Amino acid sequence: MNIPSIKNEKLIYPAASRNKEPILQVLQRFIFCDGESDEDKNALLLEVASGSGQHLAHFAPHFPTVKFQPTEFDEDLLGSIKYYADNCSTKNINQPILLDIRNKLSQYGLNENSIDYIYNANMIHISPYECTVGLFKNAGCYLKPDALMITYGPFSKDGVITPESNVQFDASLKARDPSWGIRDLTELTKLAEQNNLSLIDSIEMPANNKTLIWKKN
Ligand SMILES: C[S@@+](CC[C@H](N)C(=O)[O-])C[C@H]1O[C@@H](n2cnc3c(N)ncnc32)[C@H](O)[C@@H]1O
Repeated sequence: MNIPSIKNEKLIYPAASRNKEPILQVLQRFIFCDGESDEDKNALLLEVASGSGQHLAHFAPHFPTVKFQPTEFDEDLLGSIKYYADNCSTKNINQPILLDIRNKLSQYGLNENSIDYIYNANMIHISPYECTVGLFKNAGCYLKPDALMITYGPFSKDGVITPESNVQFDASLKARDPSWGIRDLTELTKLAEQNNLSLIDSIEMPANNKTLIWKKN
């Protein structure tokens, strides 16, 4: 029996505790919701790979007119995500969905051109590359025109990983699972173009991470 998922146990990831505030500050530059238009009131942000659920718990009260939809591949994490959703003061986090981003989002009841924002942190390098392909394919198909996907994590540029700590991190990821590893911005930009998305901004973050802003054309 899957005990953690039914216990609604609150998990705390130290990295998420550290990075949630710097990421929020970036989101506040890119998520517009004054709550005045009907579209604003119903804006949907889909999180892919919610992990503990801490990120949306931190973000949601700052965007009370946005509906946040957490999702996770690992069933054992659903209880923690549910805990944070249930305890959100602004009540704008939906119950989590068990979701594999390699599948089409239509399998989870989502319609093409219907999502206002997709948010994904720290999955691209800690999952097989097929998950990144699935993320970009789904973003290109299910985001509304001009809508944004926001990805956070470490990325290399022109095949070069910097600084040395990220080189070591990449090696440790590959030692854990050869299908994991830091992905390159040039490769991701090509993948984006194949899926009707453009990189519109790259923001340097603490601990040698970046927040990348992708816009659907
Ligand atoms: C390092 S955790 C990041 C969690 C959270 N976003 C954070 O930043 O704290 C990577 C997450 O990717 C998820 N993941 C792995 N394979 C996936 C897949 N096929 N579809 C969706 N998520 C996946 C894992 O379950 C895990 O929760």
